[in-house]
Amino acid sequence: MTQIVRKIAELRILVRAWKAAGEVIGVVPTMGALHDGHLSLARAAKAECQRVIVTIFVNPKQFNNPDDLKQYPRTEEADAALLQTVGVDVIFTPVPDEVYPAGFTSTVSVGGVSEPLEGRMRPGHFDGVATVVTKLFGMTMADRGYFGQKDWQQLQVVLRLVRDLNLPITIVGCETIRETDGLAMSSRNNRLTPEGRAIAGVLYVAITAAAEDIRAGQSDRMAIREAAEKLRHAGFDRVEYIELRDAETLMPSDDPQRPRRMLAAAWLDGVRLIDNIPV
Ligand code: PAJ
Repeated sequence: MTQIVRKIAELRILVRAWKAAGEVIGVVPTMGALHDGHLSLARAAKAECQRVIVTIFVNPKQFNNPDDLKQYPRTEEADAALLQTVGVDVIFTPVPDEVYPAGFTSTVSVGGVSEPLEGRMRPGHFDGVATVVTKLFGMTMADRGYFGQKDWQQLQVVLRLVRDLNLPITIVGCETIRETDGLAMSSRNNRLTPEGRAIAGVLYVAITAAAEDIRAGQSDRMAIREAAEKLRHAGFDRVEYIELRDAETLMPSDDPQRPRRMLAAAWLDGVRLIDNIPV
């Protein structure tokens, strides 16, 4: 039976009992509006941990655009029903006043990996993520934390954070779950028009082709230019970036010996889509 917990003190009581029984606890941080991508994380946690907590908190500190925060879908009942089917133990939905009590002034800021790409386009975003994730790890006292590769840079920020601050948690990065046309699942996909949705899969198709071309020896710049061209031709409004980066540091990389990642952000129907793949 999945239990819904709203108070930190109430969560602590459950967690202490689990810890005393020697149980391994997994946490899946989310902002709700759950889809199969989120559920895959919960399932991975379920497979590896005796207890699973899914947190649902629309974190105001990571939204650099107030409209985006206001528009963020809130579907608590449907989310609870989905998590029940996975068999998670607790849905933790803290109230903003308890997460950010009056007088709150602390920020966790991860240097380096937070700065390019999403960090440059969304100032303050990763500070908000790192701060809330640190707090959620503290509140849940989880042994393992599950994150999606869909948000590759976020995953690298969290890995860096955990290493830098010696947080006693193991981070697990889970594969991106996609629709049949390749579009990475995201709560934002619902904001696309039917016409936009019909072409959105081109983002994945274009970066996949570029990655293949690079592996086959084509120049990075040429492959990326062709991918951007494909997106514009398909009807995307704007390509914000398509970049080949070091998979861990997110810095520019032309060292094929190190793992590399192609990351992209593009606008369609006024919706900002992101994706990434290994190269
Ligand atoms: P949210 O966007 O709700 O995503 C929660 C988790 O689900 C993240 O780890 C994200 O990478 C993962 N996820 C989303 N779509 C996915 C997909 N298609 N396949 C696999 N995993 C997917 O990311 C956040 O929330 C927040 O920044 C958070 C970490 C909760 C901090 O507030």
